[in-house]
This record gives sequence, C-alpha cells and structure tokens, in this order.
Amino acid sequence: MAKLKVGVLISGRGSNMAALIAATRTEDFPAEIVLVVSNRADAGGLAIARASGVPTAVVAHRDYPDRESFDRAVSAELERAGVDLICLAGFMRIFSPWFPARWPNRILNIHPSLLPAFKGLHVQQQAIDANARVSGCTVHIVTSDLDDGPTVAQAAVPVLATDDAETLSTRILATEHELYPLVLRWFAEGRVRLEPREGQPPRVVIQGVPPDAALLWRP
Ligand code: GRF
Repeated sequence: MAKLKVGVLISGRGSNMAALIAATRTEDFPAEIVLVVSNRADAGGLAIARASGVPTAVVAHRDYPDRESFDRAVSAELERAGVDLICLAGFMRIFSPWFPARWPNRILNIHPSLLPAFKGLHVQQQAIDANARVSGCTVHIVTSDLDDGPTVAQAAVPVLATDDAETLSTRILATEHELYPLVLRWFAEGRVRLEPREGQPPRVVIQGVPPDAALLWRP
C-alpha cells in the first residue's frame, strides 16, 4: 500500500521532527516524511533532516508582506512534494485562516500541555505557576484557533515539587517523542475519523484503539 506522505513544519531544534523521521524509517511504517519546511534558515532541525536525507525547504516569513502570502508559499512547497498530511513540530508561526481551510483536518500539532490547559508560550512554567500536579502533551488537529482543535491523544506526566520549567519540559518532551509517531501511525493506517457532535467541535475516534489508549500515562 502507498505510504502517507507527510510534510513537517519546524522553526527550531526539531526533536519531534527527528522522532517522526526515526519512526517512519522503522520497518513497515505506513507513512514517510517527504519534506521538512522551516520558516527560519538557522533552525537546528534542518541539519538533522538533511543528515537523514529528507528534503528540506526554507520559507522565510520575513520575505512575505502578510501571513496569508507566507502561508500560500509554504502550502505551495507542500503541494509540490505531494504532501497528504502536515505535522507541525515546534513551528512558531500563527497561520492565517487560509491555511487550515486549505488543509482541513490534515494538519496535526503537538503542544506541551494537556489542552485546553495552558495555551500559548512558556506552558511548562504556566503549569508550575498554576500548581498543576499533572501535565503532559497533546496532539490535536489544527483549526483556525490557536492551540485548539479536536484532541487526538494526550500523554500525562507528573509535575514534581522540585520541577522547574526545564526539568518539566524534558519529562514532557520524552512523551512527545513517543506520542507523535504513534498518532501519525493511526492517521497513516486510516483509523482516525471525526465524529460530529451537536453544537460542539467534533470528537476524534480512533478505530481499533480503545479510548483509554489515546492517553498515555508515563509517571
Ligand atoms: C515541543 O515542546 C512541542 O511540543 C512544541 O514546541 C516544542 C518543539 O520542540 N510545539 P522540538 O523543536 O520538536 O524539539
């Protein structure tokens, strides 16, 4: 069966991108990364992608007068590469409404908190400041609302009394590297569908996976 073609968007070090590349290189993985796009030429992840033999492109947001023209340029790169699904992995640009409308239900993001708690930036510090005892990461479908959109899966970790933002980030990141490839596999196997709900955003249902399995607990 043809593999799902995935484009990964990054802005920085690219550890989630690296986890996705590594997973897709394992035997029988049903997806392949066909392109990595960065909005920054100095993103550390670009070197990792190149060293792994994955095609890369830089679309510098500063070269475009507004969000939508940047989004269209990124989209053109993804289309040229024949991308079916987009994985955001530390991509630090906010899309214009055009982009999610162009790729409906075909963009995933990973966020280092248990959404809807702690949106935006410095979310590990937000969790510590809020005295949360549990945090984690969320993979969700990207809609036009920032850090919103139907949750596909979450992984939870404890927040320890001794944690600072860095130690908590490290603990969460380890679960990100596990969860994102797992979710990508579910998508590539065609097991993810959206169940409409009256007056509410749709719920993600993963066929053949019991609802509990969509939450990994890694104490
Ligand atoms: C991760 O914590 C991810 O959840 C967030 O940005 C960070 C990216 O890290 N969206 P990396 O570039 O994948 O290492």
